[in-house]
Amino acid sequence: MLELAEEQQQKRDKTELVLSNIYNLPVMPKPLEDALEMLDNTAVNIPSISGIISKDQGLVTKILTIANSPLYGLQRKVTSIDFAIMVLGFNELRNIILVLSLVESFKNKTDKYLDQKEFWLHSYLTGCAAKRISEDLDFPNEGEAFVAGFLHDMGISVIHKYFHSKFIEIYDTAAEKKTGFEEAEFEALGMNHQMIGSYLAERWNFPEILCEAILNHHSPEASTMNKALSSIVHLADYMTKKLQIGSSYWDKDIELNVAEMEILRFRTEEEVINFIQGYEDMFIHQAKSVRYIS
Ligand SMILES: [Fe+2]
Ligand SMILES: [Fe+2]
Repeated sequence: MLELAEEQQQKRDKTELVLSNIYNLPVMPKPLEDALEMLDNTAVNIPSISGIISKDQGLVTKILTIANSPLYGLQRKVTSIDFAIMVLGFNELRNIILVLSLVESFKNKTDKYLDQKEFWLHSYLTGCAAKRISEDLDFPNEGEAFVAGFLHDMGISVIHKYFHSKFIEIYDTAAEKKTGFEEAEFEALGMNHQMIGSYLAERWNFPEILCEAILNHHSPEASTMNKALSSIVHLADYMTKKLQIGSSYWDKDIELNVAEMEILRFRTEEEVINFIQGYEDMFIHQAKSVRYIS
């Protein structure tokens, strides 16, 4: 038993060593880097940030698509980047650019093990849904919900890009032994994708509640700082599976933690199920708009 724990620890140490080397973000596209840098500057103004973003038409399209998506929930249609910045505000804009840059940085080539388009759709839907759920249920931290929802499975992307042979091993183990992915991840890396995602989020000095939500998106009951945020990300993630829109095969074993839904003020399971059904149309619309992004 002790040997097994030791072996796990050794695997984990090895994984963390590789992770510590990607502390500095790999080649972030220049306009994203410039925009983030400018948004961190207190003297930021609309024309200057809009000037940088407008240099990259792909980035403009992505921001406008997110801002206009039904789950994101803006009341007005946003057709220009200047107007988008005005309606979103610098903080929300920063969150959008941050998730876009991270998703972009970890993007790898699609192969038979991971379809990048599907992964993007899963992240995008979970992020926007988490933000919308926070608003609909009247919990603050919509910004963190968006970022945590978008990045909750970042660890999967990281394994695919930086531990590719392990990714294949996990995939095969899960398929052959019919174990869950989580067990297979531990066996290969001594860590699961939740731990990898939150490890990096910590290294990048993300707010603690955000790291916690990434770490516990499969088990919100383990959260101590902000259970509501972790439960919202868990619910948004589960919605993709339940509605079968933008779901991730890696999540096939996750079940809704109904007990934790009390934190979000649901009284019965039926109430949760009805709430999820109420999001179906928005998911369908949002999933359609994704073709403009990927
Ligand atoms: Fe996950
Ligand atoms: Fe997920």
